[in-house]
Amino acid sequence: MTDLFEKLLKNRGPLGMHSKESYGYFMFPRLEGEISNKMIFRGKEKLVWSLNNYLGLANHPEVRKADGDAAVKYGNALPMGARMMSGNSVEHEQLEKELAEFEMKEASILLNFGYQGMVSAIDCLVDRHDVIVYDSESHACIIDGVRLHMGKRFVYPHNDIANLEKQLERATKLATETGGAILVITEGVFGMSGDQGKLREIVALKKKYSFRLFVDDAHGFGTMGKTGAGTGEEQGVQDGIDIYFGTFAKSMALIGAFIASDAQVVDYLKHNMRSQIFAKSLPMPLVVGALKRLELLRTQPRLKDDLWNIVRALQKGLVAAGFEIGKTESPVTPVYLNGSIPEATNLIIDLRENYDIFCSMVVYPVVPKGVIMLRLIPTAVHTLEDVKYTIDAFTKIQVKLKAGQYQADKIVPV
Ligand SMILES: Cc1ncc(COP(=O)(O)O)c(C=O)c1O
Repeated sequence: MTDLFEKLLKNRGPLGMHSKESYGYFMFPRLEGEISNKMIFRGKEKLVWSLNNYLGLANHPEVRKADGDAAVKYGNALPMGARMMSGNSVEHEQLEKELAEFEMKEASILLNFGYQGMVSAIDCLVDRHDVIVYDSESHACIIDGVRLHMGKRFVYPHNDIANLEKQLERATKLATETGGAILVITEGVFGMSGDQGKLREIVALKKKYSFRLFVDDAHGFGTMGKTGAGTGEEQGVQDGIDIYFGTFAKSMALIGAFIASDAQVVDYLKHNMRSQIFAKSLPMPLVVGALKRLELLRTQPRLKDDLWNIVRALQKGLVAAGFEIGKTESPVTPVYLNGSIPEATNLIIDLRENYDIFCSMVVYPVVPKGVIMLRLIPTAVHTLEDVKYTIDAFTKIQVKLKAGQYQADKIVPV
């Protein structure tokens, strides 16, 4: 027997074990000032590549005005209650209607948070007779949703369609015995590596196997496809996605999310999804703010063009400078370097303190041991000068890394 608190303090978790030395710098850093390509970190301006603000809507004047006006008009309290009980409004319904149209689906349901919504949607869609088949690199919210599932689940290696087919064969056998159904879950754009889920190939498998496809398109909504409807549109298979998930937290720079699907499925979700039935609905300013952002997203394709100009310049420039950026097919831009965790730490300090560049760093266990991934999120508000400056700086830090200048004892930590 042990005391719960004692146990927690003994094993603080893979991130928590570094909490003291990393607080405020590597973890929980404070970026201050107007949201833009440059922000203030520890009192000094930095070029920032780690904000989920793909289309630059966070500080768009029309968005700021809509957000402000809605806050004055409604306050943050309204609506008072869960959607089903006392928390519905004309604006919530209007937003759902517009999102469904935009996604070329019959209906949609708003979710208070993307993460919690995905977990709850998976929980709601399947029962113990059903089988889930999912991609191994799925986001934590999919993994958590799968963890709630009482029936069988089969995982396939990331984007390995031959293996997915094997899992579908197993799932079909099992579901035939239980009388259940099969749900395949993947992402539109994988948020770490930036590659797309192979939606076209997965949809093609529907000819051979009976299943429904659920796509988490957090990073694809607003950034991918001709109109910004997402990765399904990009790959020409939006129709083959049975359940489409998008979050407001990335291209819309807001909070909230939605699922778009057949009207009857959405109706089912509305009446059965525990995270929506038993929680207060999205506050009015967020709903009104989302309507404004969606309007801009639909009517100002220039925002997406601006984003992609930066994405192309950044990714082409990095490759031309000899950097490894993996298989990205989206704005998400990973840069893979080789080095230990102390080297990664020193490199980030150098980048932040001496080159004034703020980007995220990912190390083991998210990437293999010995790999340092710098993750860049380009936005419509970055400039070509930002791109050039960053590639030049990366070239310099790469030389230092290879020369061993970031080894554990070399740099004094800030
Ligand atoms: C793939 C994916 N799904 C879901 C989420 C969760 O979305 P939200 O931030 O709206 O909770 C994220 C956000 O990080 C994500 O990257």
